[in-house]
Amino acid sequence: MAKILIFGAHGLLGQNLVNQFSQNYNVVGVGIEPKGQFQVDEIMDYRQGDITNARQVAEIIEDREYAAIINTAAYTNVDRAEDEPDKAFQLNVGAIQNILGVLPDTTPLVHISTDYIFDGKSGPYRENATTAPQGVYAQTKFAGEQMVTSSGKHTIIVRPNVLYGHGERLASSFVAWLVGELTAGRSVNIVDDQFNNPTYAKRLAEVINLLVSKRAQGDWNFGSREVVNRLTFALKIADVFGLNADLIHPISTESLAQRAPRPLRSGLVCDKIEAELNYDILPIHEELELLKREMYAG
Ligand SMILES: NC(=O)c1ccc[n+]([C@@H]2O[C@H](COP(=O)([O-])OP(=O)(O)OC[C@H]3O[C@@H](n4cnc5c(N)ncnc54)[C@H](OP(=O)(O)O)[C@@H]3O)[C@@H](O)[C@H]2O)c1
Repeated sequence: MAKILIFGAHGLLGQNLVNQFSQNYNVVGVGIEPKGQFQVDEIMDYRQGDITNARQVAEIIEDREYAAIINTAAYTNVDRAEDEPDKAFQLNVGAIQNILGVLPDTTPLVHISTDYIFDGKSGPYRENATTAPQGVYAQTKFAGEQMVTSSGKHTIIVRPNVLYGHGERLASSFVAWLVGELTAGRSVNIVDDQFNNPTYAKRLAEVINLLVSKRAQGDWNFGSREVVNRLTFALKIADVFGLNADLIHPISTESLAQRAPRPLRSGLVCDKIEAELNYDILPIHEELELLKREMYAG
């Protein structure tokens, strides 16, 4: 079987990619934690490594021939990035440079970007919409994406919005958090002025597998069929999981006084994936049903 290399194999998208790709590839996964702490370590060749360390990245990439390399490792804490711009830059830009520096010309690199590269004033956005990243996280992700685009190598840039899904020991998962709070009978405040079409990680992993197998190139948006505000998303979660929606209360983004700016009118137009990969973009409700089955499968 051909080999695939996944950086960030223990993250939300990383775990979903390992599960997806191990069905038809030998997966080599890299993460910052020691081996054996995650269930996915049982189905891949896991290596502990730091993607910001150029020597380690070179050793891992030069070691073998990969059918593709996928990088999901990133500095993803949007608010903390405002206080740690150097760390965010090191991970979201420096690490990309480390990979590109040793990437063989014939090996496709899948790079995960974000809707945050747009200013969030007039979404949903097509792949070629005008970019205007706001805040440190967004600016570092944009710089990383630009480096990938201008590398002249075989690259596939995939842009999700708010990513949700199932996995082990995830730092933040909106659905798992909300289900936990509502199950415990606690009230929650959810913003009603941030719009996007959330991305279900399991289906994103499926899409990435398709893009790799078709040797696609260029930019690809992926999210659900409808653009909704976060409150509506929360109400859909309560409905699918059979939880008490009366505990969910609307608030505004402004009232949260968060460190980093949030795109309010965001979202991604996904026609290109639907047309060119012949892949159905599902409504949120159906994806949440799939997630529920995944979460309670054992
Ligand atoms: N989450 C979202 O809502 C969202 C939305 C749009 C786009 N994206 C993009 O999608 C991609 C995947 O996001 P995600 O939510 O799956 O991220 P995640 O869960 O935070 O996973 C990232 C993984 O990278 C690991 N990592 C951190 N620093 C590392 C280093 N120096 N070397 C090796 N591994 C390192 C992390 O380990 P630790 O956990 O131990 O730090 C974590 O396992 C990212 O590029 C992100 O920018 C995410």
